[in-house]
Parts: sequence; structure tokens; C-alpha cells
Amino acid sequence: MTENEIKKDNSYHIAASNICVIGAGFVGLVTASGLAQFGHKVVCVDTDKSKIDELTNGRVPFYEPDLQQLVRDNLNKKTISFSDNLADSVRGKDVVFIAVGTPSGVDGRAELSNIDSVCRELAEILSGKEILVLKSTVPLGTSERVKKIFEKAGKDAPPVVSCPEFLREARAVHDFFYPSRILIGGDNDDAKKKIAEIFLKGVNAAVPIVSTDNKTAELVKYAANAFLATKIGFVNELAGFCDLLGVNIKDVSKYIGMDPRIGTKFMEPGPGWGGSCFMKDLSELMGLAKTKDFSLLITNAVLKANEKQFELVYEKVCELLSNIKDKKIAVLGLAFKAETSDMRYSPAIPIINKLLQSGARVIAYDPKASEGAREFIPGIDLADDAYKTAESADCLLILTEWNEFRSLDLEKLAETMNSKNIVDARNLLDPALARKLGFKYIGMGQN
Ligand code: UDX
Repeated sequence: MTENEIKKDNSYHIAASNICVIGAGFVGLVTASGLAQFGHKVVCVDTDKSKIDELTNGRVPFYEPDLQQLVRDNLNKKTISFSDNLADSVRGKDVVFIAVGTPSGVDGRAELSNIDSVCRELAEILSGKEILVLKSTVPLGTSERVKKIFEKAGKDAPPVVSCPEFLREARAVHDFFYPSRILIGGDNDDAKKKIAEIFLKGVNAAVPIVSTDNKTAELVKYAANAFLATKIGFVNELAGFCDLLGVNIKDVSKYIGMDPRIGTKFMEPGPGWGGSCFMKDLSELMGLAKTKDFSLLITNAVLKANEKQFELVYEKVCELLSNIKDKKIAVLGLAFKAETSDMRYSPAIPIINKLLQSGARVIAYDPKASEGAREFIPGIDLADDAYKTAESADCLLILTEWNEFRSLDLEKLAETMNSKNIVDARNLLDPALARKLGFKYIGMGQN
């Protein structure tokens, strides 16, 4: 237990709080339904009326395992409700969580217009008794920015607590109930204690809840993502080296990972990291460093190496096909990772665009992301399943680690493909079995 850890004192019952969560996106909805599951009374508010209508009818407008059931359970218990009216939603609440989007701006810095406009509205309607919690990923110093908005409106700033989320897409519900830690940053001890109690009411007792200041909590979020991206970048680079050395990356990462200082998690080589968070957060960190005239050499290298990883996968396809023009490439996986429909910053986008620019024909399949694929790659050809995608293809390219691709019937593929070539950018298949069936197989450091 660290000196600033807040532990549950079993001598007292933690009463339910009245909570408003602003933003019904991935973070807001998981936070709102998770807090409702703890027994709090939660109103989740969003400006998108159609989304609110969907949610009120128990439909979550995006794919996230277990989330729809969690929302429905709490709608039935009446512990959660949805609204598009901010004033009604914050009235009579003890705590207001801000979980609006903070996307990258043109300069790569986090764009805070959503935070600013919500806080300007709150400055006019809050009673002065509420605690404000920043749940969105926000740049260092945002808690001070929020207080200034209230003061500019001639109001006393409420206590502002920074409580960054560390949820992973596709594991968000699990990560809400079993986080590695709950970080509570702020300069008002009573407010921080209240926010700790909100989580202590329901979170597993083993989960550390630590108290710190706003700036530390804000920076930890970015630093955590920068480190995770660095770890993936390292294993991707090592996998490329293993290709040259004829050593299997799976063995190397397993054996270095036996040192607890390294660990075995987040050591799977792939086509490069994607998703709406890593790129956004590393760009913000780089931008912040620039304002302090400080060079984040390693983070900068991680960003550059990740771009190179997309190129590397493209080169592996060219290596198998010699001349790529007019060849048919069957791509399995479009989402930035398995168990999500999200294609934001997916490696599939630059890799498929490069293949198309080289004159190849591309057809793709993804169990969940196909539906929205044309928003990201206009005009892409799509098929309904892996085998239809592979029909008469000259090369199979696996980009997302969906479980169904781990158990592909290679004999069936061998019969339907025009040429037996596989680039397995997620190391899902067994190279020896593929080669036994006559495939030319290239993986990521396991060749
Ligand atoms: C990340 C952080 O994990 C989470 O804590 C934070 O709150 C938000 O950003 P997420 O973006 O959902 O979560 O995805 P994550 O599971 O971290 O994967 C990010 C990318 O790294 C994906 O493209 C994934 O395929 C890739 N990855 C991950 C690898 O290539 N290898 C790995 O071993 C792990």
C-alpha cells in the first residue's frame, strides 16, 4: 500500500451518490453504467439526441463486449437514465463527471473545445455544491483551465478532480470493474475522498485507489500510453530483427518476459499499433514537450517506427508476390485490434491504401468492422467471410487478431486461393503447418 492510498474503511456504509456523466461515448457510457452498477443513481447526458434515444431503449450504438447488457441491467434497475438536456441532468447531483471527446487538433495537440463549452454551460447552471471530475483524457493543466472558466463567469470554481480512465477498447467493461489502479488527482482532500468513496462503493477491494495532485494524474495518463506504445514498438522492431536472424520472436519475448521488470504482456508483434488513443496521446505529449523545448527522443522514435511497421507489412506482401500489380490480396481484419469494430487509426488503412496505390486489387473481411469500413477506405471491396475473401486470391494478409482467424482451415484455403501465399501480421498461424500445405508463409519474427 503506497502512503497516499485510500483504503475502504469497512466500518461505514457508503451511500449512493447522485451522479451526472457528460458524454455517452466509449468512456462516458462505460463509466456511467459502471457507476450505476455500483449502486449510484446516474444520469448520462449527450448532445446527440439519436444516440440518447437508442440508449434509452437499451441499444448501445457501437460494439463493446458486455456493455449493452450492463446498460440494460441498469436501465431495468432504474440506476441509469439518459438525457440530452444538460441543465436537467446536473440538477441535484453530488458529482459531475466530464467524459467528452478531446480529439487531436491540426497541430497534434488535444482539442479542448468540447471541455470548454461544457464548462461554460456548467458555470451557469451548477449550484456550487457539486464536485467536477475530469474523466476525459486531458492535457496537463486542464484542471486549472476549467477553474478559470468558472472564475471568468464570475463563479467560484468547484473542486476539480482529475480521474483519468485507463480502459482498453474491447476490454472496457472488464477494465472498469478490475482496473490496475484508480488515480484521483486534486487539491481538495474532501472532494478527493468523496470521489474515492464513489469507487470504493463497488470496486473490488484489492484495487488500489491512490490520491495525488491534478497535474500528476493528467500526466500519468499520457505517460502510460506512451510507455505501452514504446513496448509494442520495441517488440515489433525485435520481431523484424528476428526475421533476419532466423530466431523466433515468441521464444525471445517469452524468455525476456520472465524477468518481472519486463513481463510478458503487450509483447505481441503486429502490423503496428492503432486506435484513437495512442496516436492522439503521443501527439499531445510531443506537443507539450515542444512548448517546454524538451525533446522526447524515444517517443518520437516510437511514432516514426510505427509508421515504418505499416511499410514493413506492405513489403512482406511484395516479397511473396514479386509483381503486385493486378494481383488479388485477401485482407483478413480491418479493426485496429480484435473484439472491436473500431477502425480509427487502424494499420489496415495505410497498408490497404499502399496496396491499392501499387495497383493491387484488395478484398477484405472483418467480423465487426466491415460495416463501417467504407468510411475509412472508400470503395473497398468486402466479403462476408474469410473463405469467400480468399477465393482466387494471390495472397492472404492477416491484420487483426480475431480468434476465428487463428483456426482458419488452411487446406480449404489452399484449394480456393490462386496462389498459396500468406502474410500473417499477427503470428496467428503455425508456419510449419502452412508450409507443409504448400504455402509460402511470412510472419512477424517467426519465419
Ligand atoms: C489503450 C490503452 O491500453 C488503455 O489503457 C488506454 O486507456 C487507451 O489506449 P486501446 O487503444 O483500446 O487502449 O488499445 P490497446 O489494447 O492498448 O492496443 C493498442 C494497439 O496496440 C492496438 O492496435 C493493438 O493491436 C496493439 N497491440 C497491443 C499490439 O500490437 N501488440 C500487443 O501486444 C498489444
